[in-house]
Amino acid sequence: MSDGFSSEIRVAEDDPREGDGSYDATARIVDAGSTDDDGVVEAALRPRRLADFPGQPKVRDQLGLVLEAARRRGSPPDHVLLSGPPGLGKTTLAMIVAAELEQPIRVTSGPAIQHAGDLASVLSSLTEGEVLFFDEIHRMSRPAEEMLYLAMEDFRVDVIVGKGPGATAIPLELPPFTVVGATTRAGLLPAPLRDRFGFTGHLDFYDDADLEKILARSAGLLEVESDGDALAEIARRSRGTPRVANRLLRRVRDWAQVHGTGRVGLDAAHRALALFDVDEIGLDRLDRAVLDALCRRFGGGPVGLSTLAVSVGEETDTVETVAEPYLVRQGYIVRSPRGRLATPAAWQHLDLSPPAGAQTPLPLPDDPEAGRLG
Ligand SMILES: Nc1ncnc2c1ncn2[C@@H]1O[C@H](COP(=O)(O)OP(=O)(O)O)[C@@H](O)[C@H]1O
Ligand SMILES: [Mg+2]
Repeated sequence: MSDGFSSEIRVAEDDPREGDGSYDATARIVDAGSTDDDGVVEAALRPRRLADFPGQPKVRDQLGLVLEAARRRGSPPDHVLLSGPPGLGKTTLAMIVAAELEQPIRVTSGPAIQHAGDLASVLSSLTEGEVLFFDEIHRMSRPAEEMLYLAMEDFRVDVIVGKGPGATAIPLELPPFTVVGATTRAGLLPAPLRDRFGFTGHLDFYDDADLEKILARSAGLLEVESDGDALAEIARRSRGTPRVANRLLRRVRDWAQVHGTGRVGLDAAHRALALFDVDEIGLDRLDRAVLDALCRRFGGGPVGLSTLAVSVGEETDTVETVAEPYLVRQGYIVRSPRGRLATPAAWQHLDLSPPAGAQTPLPLPDDPEAGRLG
């Protein structure tokens, strides 16, 4: 039986998991053949301290305050929940929390915890002040969830001994610890669990200037020479996502080393991005497939999410958490209670004109769970 630690989880061959055990749902976007090496490189590119973390000023300031206050009090901070699309820095921030608190970090994930017993063994081995990083926390089983929120509140677990009518619950005291949860789907967390997090940080897509800073730093760490205009071009076409930016940088570097001078310049950037199917506005193959299906096959919608996912041959979850947030954010897709709708910008990007009678979307307030019925 798995004890829930990432190092001992069996990982399926095609599991998009990084070297440090965190999930990488964007792996299939840019290069489906993402290897373990990628995970190792990514880990090496993670900023270690809050001060080295560009972007997300709001979350950074809020988290900085929570951690500093805890340090001064000499007690563990509130539990921290980080939510947002893949590749924006949730795992990185979890590592930073531990580093700032100068505490060890234990890494596990929702899918690794299938039974309450798996969680009990993780919890009972925590040391005082330790950080427990829970990736994809919305994918944990229901009994484990209940055990977790009791443990987060009272620092106690009830270990069930025996079976059937003779089973007894033996309470086990836990030392205080800090849970850092990460989720791409905060709306899926049950309210009692969500409420146990004293601080929730919502990560949003990065602006180009922050991505340029991240790229400049990564280029330095990768020891490649680069031009500012090339980094700006890569930043502009990275879907607001540091993981994508870093990956594109490595592909441009590859191109430059094989076909160019080894220097990451604008020409290498253009050619490598074209080779890897990243378009002028940074949409990748999946993004374009979604827009294309929405406009060409479904006349601009409304169409349900699962129908849309089937028509592009992807899992619903991937379309919803990987492709859609950016397309919505950039105003190409609108979620409506009856399904997804293409905006005029989507038609324009595909060089199409909407058919007569195509619905003009009425945007809803920015509710991440809106349109889920679709
Ligand atoms: N603010 C940031 N500054 C520099 N690099 C970042 C930042 N956020 C993310 N990254 C890079 O992007 C990659 C993905 O980040 P990660 O924390 O794993 O995202 P998530 O857990 O949200 O999917 C990391 O390898 C890291 O190098
Ligand atoms: Mg992660």
